[in-house]
Amino acid sequence: TPASIPDRRRVLVAKPRGYCAGVDRAVEAVEKALAQYGAPIYVRKQIVHNTHVVRVLEGRGAIFVDETEEVPEGAIVVFSAHGVAPAVHDEAARRQLRTIDATCPLVTKVHNEAKRFAAQDYDILLIGHEGHEEVEGTAGEAPDHVQLVDGLDGVGTVTVRDPKKVVWLSQTTLSVDETTETVTRLKERFPELIDPPSDDICYATSNRQTAVKEIAAQSQLVIVVGSQNSSNSKRLVEVALDYGADAAYLVDDESFVEDGWLEGVTTVGLTSGASVPEILVEGVLRKLETHGFSDVEEVESVKEHMRFALPHELRRDLRA
Ligand code: F3S
Repeated sequence: TPASIPDRRRVLVAKPRGYCAGVDRAVEAVEKALAQYGAPIYVRKQIVHNTHVVRVLEGRGAIFVDETEEVPEGAIVVFSAHGVAPAVHDEAARRQLRTIDATCPLVTKVHNEAKRFAAQDYDILLIGHEGHEEVEGTAGEAPDHVQLVDGLDGVGTVTVRDPKKVVWLSQTTLSVDETTETVTRLKERFPELIDPPSDDICYATSNRQTAVKEIAAQSQLVIVVGSQNSSNSKRLVEVALDYGADAAYLVDDESFVEDGWLEGVTTVGLTSGASVPEILVEGVLRKLETHGFSDVEEVESVKEHMRFALPHELRRDLRA
């Protein structure tokens, strides 16, 4: 009833949110490949972890497969933003596939670190989530040297050959705070543990966490738009709860927002993961407006300017 709705209901929208440079590039790579070569274009795994994006690209003629062996010989396959192990490149070459590698350059950077430390025979402690595609790709660069440390729980069971020759690396989409804690604990066990040459958690992940922290304390409810398999989106829910939101939910789009969540709430915080198109955030805003949340304020905490060039194999053909 109108009587139960407070006078002023507002939405604080975090900025930056949504697409990072790596996702933008990967999605554009598939779009440009479809335009340049025509459908079908095969894509190994979800190009980015967002249900909506995958559905739209499927509608335009992209075919998503789990493994390269499902791609017909000679066809074009795009590798997703999360990166692939060298074995996947080898398999694609064997099957004479034409590949477009949409691995985010910031993931490639971590791959290169893994290769370099493995060549120097370091034990590499890779902090990341078991089973995540990015971690499988990075570990695949040096399977004999990499051990996965899945958060704090993984610290106790690590064993190394030489405690003077250990480095930690990480997945790009982890919680900044939790990773700091994991590293502190690892250093208690291995005081000579070396840090990566530069942060492996990427600028987009850390900026989105900074932005949600800024709105969480003022919001009774934080809505994070993102898919359930999106690591960076899930972390935003956790960070929102840690920083003072009473409740926080991950939703694919506005249809998942439940009326009950809004009862008695005067301020909703809203953000989205790095793989989420803005149109989905707009949908949530429209739904909130029908519940009287008409006062919308964007809270910007960091400015972003990052852009990446399209994969070179695609650029070459686009030029020709
Ligand atoms: Fe790359 Fe970070 Fe986005 S690693 S794909 S810029 S979330």
